[in-house]
Amino acid sequence: MTATEQLAARWEAVMMPTYGTPPVAIARGQGCRVWDVDGRVYLDLIAGIAVSVLGHAHPALVEAVCRQVATLAHSSNLAMHEPGVRLAERLVGLLGGDGRVFFGNDGAEANEAAFKLARRHGRALDRTGGRLQVVAAEGGFHGRTLGALALTGTPAKREPFAPLPGPVTFVPYGDVAALRAAVTDRTAAVFLEPTLGEGGVVPAPAGYLAAARAVCDATGALLVVDEVQSGIGRTGAWFAHQAEGIRPDVVTLAKGLGGGLPIGACVALGAAGELFAKGDHGSTFGGNPVSAAAALAVLDTIERDGLLASVRAVGDRLAVGLAAIEDSLVARVRGSGLWRALVLTAPVAAEVEAAARRAGLLVNAVQPDAVRLAPPLVLSAADADEAVAGLQVAVAEVGGATVGAASAAGAPGAGGGPPQDKGVR
Ligand SMILES: Cc1ncc(COP(=O)(O)O)c(C=O)c1O
Repeated sequence: MTATEQLAARWEAVMMPTYGTPPVAIARGQGCRVWDVDGRVYLDLIAGIAVSVLGHAHPALVEAVCRQVATLAHSSNLAMHEPGVRLAERLVGLLGGDGRVFFGNDGAEANEAAFKLARRHGRALDRTGGRLQVVAAEGGFHGRTLGALALTGTPAKREPFAPLPGPVTFVPYGDVAALRAAVTDRTAAVFLEPTLGEGGVVPAPAGYLAAARAVCDATGALLVVDEVQSGIGRTGAWFAHQAEGIRPDVVTLAKGLGGGLPIGACVALGAAGELFAKGDHGSTFGGNPVSAAAALAVLDTIERDGLLASVRAVGDRLAVGLAAIEDSLVARVRGSGLWRALVLTAPVAAEVEAAARRAGLLVNAVQPDAVRLAPPLVLSAADADEAVAGLQVAVAEVGGATVGAASAAGAPGAGGGPPQDKGVR
């Protein structure tokens, strides 16, 4: 039995089966590489689901966390601390100033806070309590707690846990007319991702967030932009919504913010920052000094090392390389920055993920026909080339078995076309 198999047997005996049994057991990481418990090394192209933005064991993160844990690990919300206040100041500054932050521990908690803000907003506009409706996107993902799940546009995830808070109206993602029709003077808030992450790295059409902003302005609904996956440099901007030049009322963050330490943030801008009053929400651990110090190290390193520009350059190189893979299994590449989906002509993403692992790459079958790449933001051009070469091998291995099915379906190959999304908008 390998060490991985031994750990899998122990996992299956004691862990709830919510994730199945993961196919890999990671022991340690350095930069963009991780080693499994059997000593195999992988190029990490998924970064713990878009989290480890500085890669693994980055000296700036190690130093900040060690220094902070040796100074003060925890205070609860009964005391203020410098790292928490400084991080809130930094986030508000990066989001254009004039805002307030609530810190939780992850993305679901950030969205729970935003959902409660929406309730407060609705009640402020209609004291009879009639303004409760929330609008969210089909295929959107906002987390697994009951509130965040209520906003998540996948019926199969929601229905086993009904009834959920609401009412929530789901609209087709990217459809401005549907959004205009759904948002009324009964709507408290609109929750949108700038790009569907778990939905398969599907970018919104240009102008969609701007249209959502206009609809919210016209009706008085809050615009909540979920940047849990897209934020903190993933697309080559600090926040993905900035590409549309809009200012949301609320931005939710997590994942990359702590670079691997758990932290979530609900940032309310302008008047939305005044919605919560004393006693309205809370968390014992949220924004603790160690996670806040980690997040400050992440923001400092992104800034100091010019990582936003690097994400754009390396991300484009990666996309060009992926789109040039000549294999009938490759339909196209979508996404931006270091956040891409290799879209397949057959629902064999899980097989490609497994073949990539055999080729030394960690990627993720985010949808049956889409392989997600969300590597550390420190990925180099050489790493990107290695990723393309490995995925070429992986799709060739899987494509050999599925080429008949793909051609029977009349699906197009990549044919070396441009890297931009060619079909999802
Ligand atoms: C856009 C988005 N929002 C919220 C979440 C939930 O975050 P967490 O798993 O940290 O609770 C996720 C997780 O994938 C996400 O992608």
